[in-house]
Amino acid sequence: MRTLDEAAREASGCTRCKLAQGRTQVVYGSGNGNADLMFIGEAPGFHEDRQGLPFVGAAGGLLTGLLEGIGLTRDQVFICNVLKCRPPGNRDPQPDEIEACEPWLWEQIDLINPKVICSLGNFSTRLLLGKPAGISRVRGQRFKFRGRCLIPTFHPAAILHGGRTSPAMGQMEDDFRLIAKTLEELAVSEPDPDAEQLGLF
Ligand code: URA
Repeated sequence: MRTLDEAAREASGCTRCKLAQGRTQVVYGSGNGNADLMFIGEAPGFHEDRQGLPFVGAAGGLLTGLLEGIGLTRDQVFICNVLKCRPPGNRDPQPDEIEACEPWLWEQIDLINPKVICSLGNFSTRLLLGKPAGISRVRGQRFKFRGRCLIPTFHPAAILHGGRTSPAMGQMEDDFRLIAKTLEELAVSEPDPDAEQLGLF
C-alpha cells in the first residue's frame, strides 16, 4: 500500500471529473494520517478551494469548536470531503462527480484506518451507508462500516443556517459526545477485531 502523501500527490493532479477545470486546487484532506477519528464532509467551498484545506471557513470554525468540546484538536483527527474539488458556486455534488471522486475517499479510509468515522451531512452519510437515508433520521446512531464505527451527524453549515441556538446544535453536541464515548470504548476493547461483538452497533 502506498502512503497518504503519495496518494495526495497523485490526487493533486486529478482530472477524473469536470470539477478539475474550475478549481484552484485539490483539497485532499488534512490532519493526522493515523487518526482514530475521521470526518467526511461534502465538498470544498470558496475558502477551502483557495487555501487547499478542508473546513477552514465558518463551518470549519463550528467543527473545530465541537472537537474542542470533546477534548480534541484538528491535529488529532483527519478531516476530508466526499469531493476533493469545489463545485462551482458551491452547488450540490453531482452523481457523476461523486462516482469519479469516491476512489480517493475509499483509499484514504484504508490508509488512515480510523476506528470511528463521522459523516457530516447527507452526502457523505448516504455514500457510506449506501442508501438514501435522511440525516435527521440517522444522526447520532452507530452503524457498522467496513469493520469500523460510522456515526452520522449534521453538516456544520446546516447548523450555521439554523442558528447556533437551534435544537440541531444541541443534537450535534450530543453526537460528538457519542463519538468521544465510542473512541473510549474502542480503546479499552482493543485488540478485539470484531467490533460487532462489542455491542456497539
Ligand atoms: N463544507 C464542506 O462540506 N466541506 C468543507 O471543506 C467546507 C465546507
